[in-house]
Amino acid sequence: MFEEISNALQNARRIVFVTGAGISEESGIPTFRGKDGLWRKYDPMKLATIDAFYEDPKLVWEWYQDRRRNIISAEPNNGHKSITELEKLYQVTVLTQNIDGLHQRAGNSKVLELHGSIIRIKCTVCDFQKDFTGYFDVLPPKCKCDNILRPDVVWFGESLPQEVWKNAMQEASLCDVMIIAGTSLVVSPANTLPIFAKQNNAMLIEINPEQTIMSNEMDLSIRDTSANVIPKLVEFVKEIKSQ
Ligand code: APR
Repeated sequence: MFEEISNALQNARRIVFVTGAGISEESGIPTFRGKDGLWRKYDPMKLATIDAFYEDPKLVWEWYQDRRRNIISAEPNNGHKSITELEKLYQVTVLTQNIDGLHQRAGNSKVLELHGSIIRIKCTVCDFQKDFTGYFDVLPPKCKCDNILRPDVVWFGESLPQEVWKNAMQEASLCDVMIIAGTSLVVSPANTLPIFAKQNNAMLIEINPEQTIMSNEMDLSIRDTSANVIPKLVEFVKEIKSQ
């Protein structure tokens, strides 16, 4: 599976993962655009924009509370966990579009959340914010300043957290190998990260059961799931590094 990139893996020091909803699919969290994807059932313009939130904050919160319930009860899978293993062999950074916190719960030590976190809540007015895994009896929940709280996620039309994005571009520009796992790469600016890596002559590896809009740019595309492939990558690297 990895023979053709064996040299690159042998010589690499910095590996960057760009991940999306697909890496959490095997933890029971639906993707957005896959077969049973969320955007096939729900209109993102009614649930994932700031206008939709102010139009009907209760509706938006009901949907996010359901997603929080599913995410908080989910467990990291072998895809997430193997990345922690890989940290023993390389300098690994995870640039994730996921808001579920499963990379961190799997022990991945360097994770940049490009689209925020559903676990974190923040006030729409004051600078209050905190991680919260409980449930709200009254929706929309209110801050102590009496303004409504929102999930600290990036909605369509909103900018990414600037410091995070700046660091992500830098990590992508410095990596030797970029592994793009579980993302359709249709959302920007996250889908520009492989271009930064390519400009640094990094090796691009895609792990996705389906073709994506950038599959032709990849040095290697593996049509399988992340929980199947990443553990095998770890075993392969351990083997070549022991020779
Ligand atoms: N392992 C690897 N890849 C998988 C798996 C799996 N087990 N299951 C599905 N996939 C792939 C699908 O083939 C698809 O290409 O994961 C990809 C998921 O794509 P999307 O649903 O578009 O999710 P993502 O790329 O993360 O979306 C980007 O869009 O809706 C916004 O903010 C949201 O962060 C999200 C962004």
